[in-house]
Amino acid sequence: VALKVGVIGVGVIGQDHIRRLTTVLSGAEVVAVTDTDAARARDVAAQYGIATVHATGEELIASVDVQAVLVGSWGPTHQQYVLAAIAAGKPVFCEKPLATTREACLSIVEAEVAYGRRLVQVGFMRHYDPAYRAVKDVLEAGELGNVLMAHCVHRNASVTHSWTSDMLLNDAGLHEFDILRWLFDDDIVATQVLKVRQNADAPAGLDDPLLVLMQFRKGGWANVEVTMNSHYGYDVRTEIVCDRGTVALPETESAVVKVNGQRSFRVSADWRERFIIAYDIEIQEWVNAATAGTATGPSAWDGYLATAGAEAAIKSLNTGALELLDVQERPSFYA
Ligand SMILES: NC(=O)c1ccc[n+]([C@@H]2O[C@H](COP(=O)([O-])OP(=O)(O)OC[C@H]3O[C@@H](n4cnc5c(N)ncnc54)[C@H](O)[C@@H]3O)[C@@H](O)[C@H]2O)c1
Repeated sequence: VALKVGVIGVGVIGQDHIRRLTTVLSGAEVVAVTDTDAARARDVAAQYGIATVHATGEELIASVDVQAVLVGSWGPTHQQYVLAAIAAGKPVFCEKPLATTREACLSIVEAEVAYGRRLVQVGFMRHYDPAYRAVKDVLEAGELGNVLMAHCVHRNASVTHSWTSDMLLNDAGLHEFDILRWLFDDDIVATQVLKVRQNADAPAGLDDPLLVLMQFRKGGWANVEVTMNSHYGYDVRTEIVCDRGTVALPETESAVVKVNGQRSFRVSADWRERFIIAYDIEIQEWVNAATAGTATGPSAWDGYLATAGAEAAIKSLNTGALELLDVQERPSFYA
């Protein structure tokens, strides 16, 4: 029998996850939705034949028909829903960020530890991307030796005028704080953000691009260019430098065309295109774990550390200095 899923927040990513739960993946059925935009919730329910539209997220979580919860609403609303799901003992997938402040993330960590079993998976889908996994496999095989540095790029084609400089760090950049911890198999201890000459086409006052430096406990460093107005497409790149070689994400999974003296391949338009397979694997693994009453993959602890990294980076954007991450000791629960 299929896992009965309730979805809170049916905007861009909420609808995309409903689409994959309904038409791509197996083992789950979306039985309920809610959104503060009630008309949108009704439209999405009608489109996918979803039985129930709840007035609030709390009502959806409490419903006996809902066995597992997917949170796709705005970041500042995540904490209340994840805490309610833990209180109800229901597995919960939470889109990134886990919560928008360190303290809010910590409250979730503490609630899950007190509950005593993992219930939370955070939407860091890069962990499921075949290219990132291939890089991780090479690093784990050990032939290259220790990880020393990473050179990374995170470029978006364009952004709306509602984007702020902080969002380059706690929205787009958040993924980098998470995935680089995973690839380095080490914690980030400090970060510094350098302002760069502003892109002529960036909205006035938006610090775009930014250069983000991350220092790791064992002494490694990463540099990440975050750009929101590349114009040419969505481009995520990582090269990891080790003792005896380097390993990098492939430039493309599309066909490479050579014609008229030029070599070319398609660049993804946006994150949905670039990570479509990662999202499918991510949500299927969530369904599988939730069916067993638990969660795997990126944890509440990972969500806490990523938000802590972004918070320190925002501080550095304002001070210009290298800023230490202010984090707790890792509970043995997450070892
Ligand atoms: N993993 C990724 O790469 C990725 C990609 C895109 C978005 N996201 C995350 O997903 C979340 C949603 O992003 P989006 O692009 O879909 O935004 P969106 O604005 O398209 O959708 C958010 C929806 O949540 C609803 N909402 C807001 N507050 C609510 C509340 N309290 N209760 C119920 N519904 C509420 C809004 O009405 C809207 O329909 C964000 O946290 C974002 O960072 C993650």
